[in-house]
Amino acid sequence: MVDRNGWGRERPAPTGAPRSPPAAFVEQANVTDEEIYEAFDENWPACWERAAELLTWNEPYDTVLEAEDAPFYRWFTGGTLNASYNCLDRHLEAGRKTHTAIRWEGKRGERETYTYRDLYVEVNELAAALRALGVGEDDAVTIYLPMIPELPIAMLACARIGAPHSVVFAGLSSEALATRMDAAESEYLITCDGYYRRGDAFNQKAKTDNARIALEQDVQTIVVDRLGDDLPHVLGENERDYDDFREAFEGETVEPVPRDAEDMLFLMYTSGTTGQPKGVVHSTGGYLAHVAWTSHAVLDVKPEDTYWCAADIGWITGHSYIVYGPLALGTTTVMYEGTPDYPDRGRLWEIVDRNAVDVFYTAPTAIRAFMKWGEEFPEGYDLSSLRLLGSVGEPISSRPWRWYHEHIGNEECPIVDTWWQTETGAITVSTLPGIDEMKPGAAGPALPGTDARVVDDSGDEVGPDEAGYLVLARPWPGMARTLYDGDDRFVAEYWRRFSDPGDDRWWYESGDAARIDADGYITILGRVDDVINASGHRLSTMEIESAITNVDGVAEAAVVGRSNATAETEIYAYVSTDGHNDPDAAIREAIVENVEATIGPIARPEQVIFTPELPKTRSGKIMRRLLEDVANGEELGDTSALRNPEIVGEIQAEIFGADAVDE
Ligand code: PRX
Repeated sequence: MVDRNGWGRERPAPTGAPRSPPAAFVEQANVTDEEIYEAFDENWPACWERAAELLTWNEPYDTVLEAEDAPFYRWFTGGTLNASYNCLDRHLEAGRKTHTAIRWEGKRGERETYTYRDLYVEVNELAAALRALGVGEDDAVTIYLPMIPELPIAMLACARIGAPHSVVFAGLSSEALATRMDAAESEYLITCDGYYRRGDAFNQKAKTDNARIALEQDVQTIVVDRLGDDLPHVLGENERDYDDFREAFEGETVEPVPRDAEDMLFLMYTSGTTGQPKGVVHSTGGYLAHVAWTSHAVLDVKPEDTYWCAADIGWITGHSYIVYGPLALGTTTVMYEGTPDYPDRGRLWEIVDRNAVDVFYTAPTAIRAFMKWGEEFPEGYDLSSLRLLGSVGEPISSRPWRWYHEHIGNEECPIVDTWWQTETGAITVSTLPGIDEMKPGAAGPALPGTDARVVDDSGDEVGPDEAGYLVLARPWPGMARTLYDGDDRFVAEYWRRFSDPGDDRWWYESGDAARIDADGYITILGRVDDVINASGHRLSTMEIESAITNVDGVAEAAVVGRSNATAETEIYAYVSTDGHNDPDAAIREAIVENVEATIGPIARPEQVIFTPELPKTRSGKIMRRLLEDVANGEELGDTSALRNPEIVGEIQAEIFGADAVDE
């Protein structure tokens, strides 16, 4: 029984009657054909041509799916296309050059509008400049930028010349940047002088400089001047100013390079179960087809919409649903640089109101914050333009679901709770909003053409409503093709545990636990590996632990996620010091500092709990699951298998106080 560890203890089955999508929504929805599930099933894998048809191909593909080298699946083989052409040129050719592509809302209230033509011009100039600098097809270009228009522009410029981009979230540390550049053997970097954090100027260039010092390779760097006089900077060797660099190629255009459907469009580093981040490789054809299809079928995006995904482009959500999906469909995508509570807690609703946003897509962590702040903030604005709401990144339980439905959607907008991952590339589990009923708390069925199952430790399927491991039993076009660090690691991480190569059975292991009900609706219960999903950020316990054990005086560390009163996941670090060092405030501070320096502020431990030893099994394995239960104040099971059971009470006393433990 997989649920022995208590996964899902805080995730009751969805309650309340399922809700039908509102008739007014269904009437206009992009996909309303109820037969679609059956049609995709019967006609698999050819059904995925519906996704490929949303794109313009240079050379048509001749095979939808090649599975001979499974799990190295190949989609739309023989086809060639260019992602930048699909996101730009073809909309100009269709007479839509004055249509708004990007509406940018800056942190300080600045606004910028890029029409498809504006975007086309800037992308072409940058592409010409990059090529002149020596960037060739398949050279990885690292982009380390906050949410400013130059970020999607740089991505599309790379795509235009066939150079894969590797975007590193701007909030990650210089060390994290260096690790990723090193792993990707990247010799080109597009970054900026700094950006505003709340109201203050923050120096990004200093982080970039440190990363470059740590790298062996020479790096050609392009620096966007975001802050002007607020943070003057000096350009050193191999550094160029973005505007000068691009403007030297003013008015130039670059023919989009036809890429094989299977060629890499980008790589994206994400946290895995070891300390070394995984470089997830995404293809050009399958990825773009899948993100365009899900933007159309799940997010119901239409070319005339103003669509807003309030994520950061530094993560996969922003790649797929701020940049590639919406731009491939020719819609207006809103890009927001700031935070939801600056300058005040009505900021997002003010942006929805002013831009008449049609579709809004965000994360449960944000929804819970809105709920906490109160409905008076959204009530102050006209949100009647909204037609559909989306959620991604974590489970959304039924209370925030209902709040979102009522106070943002006025009970008139369907909500899509979309489950997917960096590795799946695009939405994999969700209701289709024009067809399916919604069950608050459950994400929904697997998308048409997708086969999600829940299995036990031995890989056998469990019954309805039983918890187990979520696997995907059929390939899908947006799937990661490999890991940049090697095919072996790709197979080991995702395809070993539940596959049976002898039987040609390849089941993708998602790393999540889930339950499926009798209607096929999937409730996600959370990660089952050593990955913590903290406020929508995916972090590896091993990566944080190694940042902690690198601090002088620390002997051992174990990191777990703890769900606080508002259901946010916080990081708890259990630390033992070596024989020469007493735990004190200085070590605590050094631990927090080193985590921030090595990974970034997003990984900062909320609590550092000192303990003389960590609880271990007789074979010496740290009992992380037990430590998670302790942090969450859960009933502890049998601790007799521990080598040092007495330590558990000491740890509880450290967290909750001695009285609480005695009770
Ligand atoms: O645990 C699942 C959770 O986020 C993980 C993937 O994280 P990442 O690769 O950073 O991508 C996040 C955005 C796609 C998953 O393994 N997750 C994502 N969406 C949901 C979710 N958990 C529950 N419900 C969701 N809708």
